[in-house]
Amino acid sequence: MKGIILAGGTGTRLYPITEGISKQLMPIYDKPMIFYPLSTLMLAEIRDILVITTPEDQEGFQRLLKDGSHFGIHVSYAVQESPRGLADAFIVGEDFIGNDSCSMILGDNIFYGDGFIKKLQNARYNAASNNITTIFGREVKDPERFGIMELDEDKNVLSVEEKPEYPKSNYAITGLYFYPKGVSSYAKLVKPSKRGEIEITTLNEMYLKENRLKAELLGGGFTWFDTGTDESLYDSISMIRSIQNNQARVICCPEEIAYNNSWIDEKQLEERVHLINKNNYGKYLKKVLDRR
Ligand code: G1P
Repeated sequence: MKGIILAGGTGTRLYPITEGISKQLMPIYDKPMIFYPLSTLMLAEIRDILVITTPEDQEGFQRLLKDGSHFGIHVSYAVQESPRGLADAFIVGEDFIGNDSCSMILGDNIFYGDGFIKKLQNARYNAASNNITTIFGREVKDPERFGIMELDEDKNVLSVEEKPEYPKSNYAITGLYFYPKGVSSYAKLVKPSKRGEIEITTLNEMYLKENRLKAELLGGGFTWFDTGTDESLYDSISMIRSIQNNQARVICCPEEIAYNNSWIDEKQLEERVHLINKNNYGKYLKKVLDRR
């Protein structure tokens, strides 16, 4: 399975913060925002990852993530010339995806909670082996801000709608999606919406019509942030800080995931410890190294 991180967009909702820097390179407490979605894909055991950025920002991501080998993965890069919509990622990434199944995560989405790995494994299996698309739902108090899923009492998806004025439920569709092979051909059939974008919600509707759309719900104890506004950005930073300090661990540490999965060896982790040696992130890497 392939993985795409969509880190394009102009980030205008965060101006003036993002006038000079890509949103997904900004810090969420002790690490760049993109480490969180990257870690999610790595937890799903996806090692072949395409990072889609604006043309201007690509260099910054390349400086940060390089070819991915220090995380035991392979990272490649593509450019989205203009923000044409989320489903456009599958058109930009068509050659990269090839004939494989593919997960996509938005570069500003942070997931953290119990049982997440199992849910990722299920979604991956359903896409790769059962031809089923999975979207993840989470109850929110401001549903008009998101894509929304309407569910029946057995939690089957009845409808999906992008930022409806009158939401049919409080279940937001989070920015993490698992598609079976062939998603690029479906994305090409999506007609631009009123705001001129190739909407991911329209793509998901196509799978729904074919009875191939499954919702996985994230419970109340689960942390999910879309860090797209100044308030949610601040909330996510303070939440990550307090969980990390409370649990004496680092959330979404790609080096730790890679080392635990034996994708990098001791020597490679030592190199990271050597490089990051002046702060708590570095101390944590040292702890991970000494754990074995
Ligand atoms: C996008 C999607 C929306 C989804 C949200 C999750 O919205 O279009 O369906 O609920 O991400 O983060 P955006 O935040 O890009 O406006």
